[in-house]
Amino acid sequence: MPRLKILFATPECFPFAKAGGLGDVAGALPLALAARGHDVRIVLPRYRSTRKIESQALSGALGIPFGTAHTVWAGVRRADLMSTRQGQPAVPLYLLEHDNYFDRGGIYNDEHGSFGDDLERFSFFSRGAIELCRYLGFQPDVIHVHDWPTSLIPVYLDTIDRYTPMGRAATVLTIHNMGYQGWFPRADLPKTGLGWDSGALSSLEMHGQLNLLKGALVHSTIVSTVSPRYANEIQTKDGGEGLEALVRARGSDVVGILNGIDDAAWNPETDPFLAAPFSWQRLEGKRACKAALQRELGLPERPDVPLIGMVSRLVGQKGIDLVAEALGGLLQQDLQIAVLGSGESWAEDLFSRVARSTDRFRIWVGMNEGLAHRIEAGADLFLMPSRYEPCGLNQMYSQRYGTLPIVRSVGGLDDTVESGVTGFKFDEASPDALLATVGWSLDVYRNDPGRFHAMQITSMQKHMGWSYAARQYEALYRLAAGRRRSRL
Ligand code: ADP
Ligand code: GLC
Repeated sequence: MPRLKILFATPECFPFAKAGGLGDVAGALPLALAARGHDVRIVLPRYRSTRKIESQALSGALGIPFGTAHTVWAGVRRADLMSTRQGQPAVPLYLLEHDNYFDRGGIYNDEHGSFGDDLERFSFFSRGAIELCRYLGFQPDVIHVHDWPTSLIPVYLDTIDRYTPMGRAATVLTIHNMGYQGWFPRADLPKTGLGWDSGALSSLEMHGQLNLLKGALVHSTIVSTVSPRYANEIQTKDGGEGLEALVRARGSDVVGILNGIDDAAWNPETDPFLAAPFSWQRLEGKRACKAALQRELGLPERPDVPLIGMVSRLVGQKGIDLVAEALGGLLQQDLQIAVLGSGESWAEDLFSRVARSTDRFRIWVGMNEGLAHRIEAGADLFLMPSRYEPCGLNQMYSQRYGTLPIVRSVGGLDDTVESGVTGFKFDEASPDALLATVGWSLDVYRNDPGRFHAMQITSMQKHMGWSYAARQYEALYRLAAGRRRSRL
């Protein structure tokens, strides 16, 4: 099979820039594709956080035409995304540099809140990603775009004459989260560089505003999302967030491919963040990790008490309101809860207050990669009661670390957790259902340790690496490229 040329256009890429799971996906899937022999290149904005990467400036600036008479200039730097596996190829990563847009204290927001110029910033990036291909003389078979920040790429390719030669590239849109669609005022269309007479307006317009994800849903050759169940959910009123009819209209062009995990970075046998290594054959190290976590967070150091972990953006999607409502009931029991997260201030404040009032509950507010690993390793159970969850990675990290996930049966959580076998599931989005299922997991933990142990072993032995998903993406890319060619 001929190797594919793939441009991976993403607003996040671990370890350089990450706000959530998209960062993890973009930091691992390209490597898995390169390991299969493909010519993959990543393009990422040069955020402040990426300055720590060793990179070389490429000669000459990249001129990005905006509107009729307006060119914005970008610097281009080249770096490498290294594989965590020995002997596997690195992936070239191109950073588009424009300090006014990207030299900021965060990807989508900083400590003062969200930025007001996302449409300009990500129009610039999307258009820059296409211009980069021209600049490099790289004609991709497929441009793989992710979520609303890169959604203008398929729109530009289809509707701007200058890009007709590049239009030979098929586009694959992956929707990681329908809850974020990129809504902007209609009057701001000129900020995208698209004219009022352009054919793009009708595909972007929705309820009198611009919706970037909608544009990509119309113009992408193929649409994917990050679990089979979520691929069904986004066709319904509950999961489609207003775009369900359009998703349904794309019929079999919409597919769900379950995310993998980087099982080298998330490997309890080699994880450098942990107090002690462990594996399914030798679980003693996990007990040392639990004690170390209790010490680190100031929880009483008790090996017997069930410790429940959470690592999460503290937002409605993740069901934190359910946790907040159930918290009183949870803390009446002899257990410990360790939360790492940041997000809505009411939740940060509430959880911080609770932590000051009891030694059963601790929260660490902010992003902390090492602590995320230590919670996955040191906890016995992991709580993820999401209202919706396109895929979810933490439940898989938990399984790999023998920490049984307690999840709501939605999206990728439903696809990855087998209730009573590799975790505990509940259906109803209510504090009572959450409490009942936590109660079930505690009962198994306390009264049936043999079964708990067997569930841990089954979870830890599951194959969750990226190789399977990479093969599915490869098939999807070939399908998209073939379809594109037949249209030309
Ligand atoms: P989402 O992308 O919706 O936030 P996922 O489960 O797909 O959910 O991925 C979340 C990723 O972000 C995981 O790698 C998780 O460990 C990480 N993460 C979330 N919050 C934090 C935090 N406060 N500190 C460190 N890592 C975090
Ligand atoms: C999104 C989703 C999450 C998914 C991640 C990576 O942020 O909320 O469920 O795992 O993207 O695809």
